[in-house]
Formats: sequence, structure tokens, C-alpha cells
Amino acid sequence: MESIFDVESLRAQSKAWRLSGFTVAIVPTMGNLHSGHLSLLDRAKDLADRTLVSIFVNPIQFGVGEDYDSYPSTIKEDLQKLEIAGVDTVFMPDLKELYPGGTEVDTRITVPEISDILCGEYREGHFSGVATVVAKLLINSMPDYALFGEKDFQQVLVIRRMVIDMLLPVQIVSMPTCRETDGLAMSSRNRYLNRQERGKSPAIYSALQSAVERLRNGAFTVEEIEQEGVISLTEVGMKVEYFSIRRQKDLLPVNSSDRDIVILTAVWLGSARLIDNLKVTLD
Ligand code: PAJ
Repeated sequence: MESIFDVESLRAQSKAWRLSGFTVAIVPTMGNLHSGHLSLLDRAKDLADRTLVSIFVNPIQFGVGEDYDSYPSTIKEDLQKLEIAGVDTVFMPDLKELYPGGTEVDTRITVPEISDILCGEYREGHFSGVATVVAKLLINSMPDYALFGEKDFQQVLVIRRMVIDMLLPVQIVSMPTCRETDGLAMSSRNRYLNRQERGKSPAIYSALQSAVERLRNGAFTVEEIEQEGVISLTEVGMKVEYFSIRRQKDLLPVNSSDRDIVILTAVWLGSARLIDNLKVTLD
């Protein structure tokens, strides 16, 4: 596995692969890799001849007072995992490499509407930060495929829309959420949980599952189910930002004809902000 650190080398690597006729898949990450990230890699290896992983904790997607400075970094372990997974190249730029003009006054990509709801309402500028860094990675690596996890359901929609609007010739592939055995969605932020909080955390997945059952059952309104979700998570000591039933395609509120639905939630548990979601297709 080769490690590269600058954009010039990224372009050169991508060009060399293309000249050899290889297809390329990229998995963008912020490091602190877990099985969720590795599931994206497995799929990337199935899809393409060469796999590229980026590790970069992107400052512009963190808000003031968020965990940019304390975001877990485990580079040595990450590189071991990537080596074992059979990744071809890992791109680990520093801040100046991706933001040569700094991050105070720089060009950003903003995907309208979808960026402003749900997580976007609570994390101003977050999705613009994500869209901007992902665009930089895609433009400079020119992959055939880019893989993202549905754990960040809204992020996938933002990126799909950015790729369509910016005419980027890449196929976005999304993968299901990997969970711990008790249902907690794997996340780098789970390590912020103390033992007691970790014990409460499976309530998130349980609340989503109950909401799916109630939706299928048909005896409850969307508002009732959302309220029940908020109550059940609040009762175990979480601070709920939202518990929302939305359409899968655009995350707008559901109406009676919608069948492809996703229930999304964001909560604070201690110092950890956790998100999760569950898709349901009604028949
Ligand atoms: P990060 O949180 O490191 O996640 C990298 C990728 O792994 C994302 O596509 C994310 O959705 C996926 N992922 C995380 N947890 C997962 C899980 N439990 N199951 C499946 N996939 C999971 O998301 C980001 O980084 C950043 O916003 C990034 C896209 C790299 C832009 O900076």
C-alpha cells in the first residue's frame, strides 16, 4: 500500500491507473476507522480494479464549539487496517494541501435545500463543508466510483446532488449501516460515550425499530410516531434534536402516497452527538 500526501501525487496516481486501463474507487474518510468504513472498502474492491482511501479531518464541516480539535486520530491503527484490507493507496493531505488559501475566505460548494434541513438546521455550514471537500477529492482523483455510508443518510443525498449539479463523472455508491451487536450504529464518536452512556445507546436503534413497526401497523399518525420517538429517547436521558419521518428521495415530510420512507434521528448522549436512521418501504 502506498501513502501519498499531496494533490499532485493523487493526480499522478489516478492518471497512471487510468492509462493502465484500471477502474478506480475512492472511499473518503476522516480516519479512526471501524468496521463501517471497512465495509465500504470491501465493496470498493469488488467494484473497481484499484482502491483509494482518503483520511482527512475536514475543519470546514465542523461548527464552532464542535469536536474538530478532539476528533479521534488513530493513524497507525488505520494504516494497519487499510493494509490488511488490501487498499492500494491512502491519501493523507494536510490542511494546506486541500485549502491552500486557508479556510477563512475560500470557495465553497453549497447544495441548496437538502443542506438546510434536519442535521443542517443544527449544524450550520456543515453540509457545505462536506460538499466542498468531497468535490475537491473527486475532482483530483477522478474515480469511477465513490462510496459512502447510509449511516449519514442526508450526507449521501447532499453528495449525490452535488455530483449531479457539478457534472462530476463519478458513480456514487451507498452502503448499509454497520452496527454493534446491540444495534448501536458504528461511529468514531461512540468513543466519547462512558460506560453508562454506552449502555443507554442501543435505545436509539430500538426507537427507530418501534417507529418502523408503528408505521407498518398503520394505526398511528406520523406526528404520533415522531412524538413517541422523542419521548422514548428523552426518557433514557438523551437530548433529542430531531426524530423525523421523511421521504427517502429528498427528506421532505411524507404524505399519504409516499412508500419509500426513512426515519432519521439525531441525539446528544453526554458529550456525543449521535445520528442514526432506518429505511422502510410500505406496501
Ligand atoms: P467519516 O465519518 O469518517 O465516515 C466516512 C464514511 O464512512 C462515510 O461515508 C460514512 O457514512 C461511512 N460510515 C460511517 N459509519 C458507518 C457505519 N456504521 N456503517 C457504514 N458506513 C459508515 O463521513 C465522513 O467521514 C465525512 O463527512 C467525509 C465524507 C469523509 C467528508 O469529510
